[in-house]
Amino acid sequence: MKLSLAPIQSYTTAFYRYAHHLTFNTFDKYYTPFFENNKQNGWLPALLPELDKKLNSQTNLIPQVITNNSVFLICSAEKFAGMGYTKINLNMGCPFPMMVRRQKGAGLMAEPKLLENILTDFYDQMPEAKLSVKIRLGINEPDEWKNIIPILNDFPVTEVIVHPRTAKQKYDGKVNWTEFEKITSVCKHPVTGNGDINSKEDFLELKSRFPDVFSWMTGRGALIDPFLPGEIKGTNYSTQQKKELFRMFHDTYFEIIKQHFPVWNHAFNHIRTFWYYPLQSVKNGQRHYKTLKKFMPENEYLKWSMTMINGTLMNADH
Ligand SMILES: Cc1cc2nc3c(=O)[nH]c(=O)nc-3n(C[C@H](O)[C@H](O)[C@H](O)COP(=O)(O)O)c2cc1C
Repeated sequence: MKLSLAPIQSYTTAFYRYAHHLTFNTFDKYYTPFFENNKQNGWLPALLPELDKKLNSQTNLIPQVITNNSVFLICSAEKFAGMGYTKINLNMGCPFPMMVRRQKGAGLMAEPKLLENILTDFYDQMPEAKLSVKIRLGINEPDEWKNIIPILNDFPVTEVIVHPRTAKQKYDGKVNWTEFEKITSVCKHPVTGNGDINSKEDFLELKSRFPDVFSWMTGRGALIDPFLPGEIKGTNYSTQQKKELFRMFHDTYFEIIKQHFPVWNHAFNHIRTFWYYPLQSVKNGQRHYKTLKKFMPENEYLKWSMTMINGTLMNADH
């Protein structure tokens, strides 16, 4: 069974992935949050530090792009390959209306002809390329994928990651595993399941329902509880181990941020995002996060983080 970390814009940054991998080494694959083309056909965000080799050398990293344009897809794949990343992922799931209106992200789920043209151009230019896609069920209806999977079946796509919600649902509401099941029965490519795997029990339930699916992706659940991927893979952490590992995770992240952002104000902005998800599992987590929203000098922050790691966080329900 393979487990990957879902890309989450602004959170699963190169720094986060680096610290997570060094501390836990529990994910088999990581994806960057999406790159988009800017007006000059460059990459947004900038490719560095996101694809910095020093930050990513230990990980199996797949850069992701969001586009409706084969030229940008080809150009990105070439650029990534030149930097040592031989795989690329196409985002067909982003639900934001601005993207969907521009036929990007989940917008592509309603554009089978456009998708076919993009893939035809792409594979004409790069027949050996390792392209995977991350899809939703559709924009408004949960069966819109029926127009898209046959197109994907016609090309040598390496993997289809499915987040079984519609774009209309954004990130809430029920995950539709019934439609997911139908996709697994018609998709010729290996399928990965993603959505609301928030506990080991969630995972075991899915694993027993879909014994033939060997690849799973966790996002918010793993950000809230960074021990989750290890637990899914069978590790039982003691409270003491959790405390030590979380401290190591934090300190590794803290050090790498300080190296890249020597000015504390800038570093502090990145350190804040580290805490957003873990604090969601804590009683009064919102209040603790609010404290962090106000600027803190470095020594004050270090005291605050110590209290969180040794006390508040470890009393949380995970
Ligand atoms: C704030 C936020 C940002 C996201 N950014 C991306 C992204 O850049 N690329 C992508 O493919 N999915 C993105 N996603 C979707 C996640 O990768 C994942 O599919 C979704 O959160 C469902 O999985 P989960 O329930 O395990 O979190 C984002 C989700 C959230 C909540």
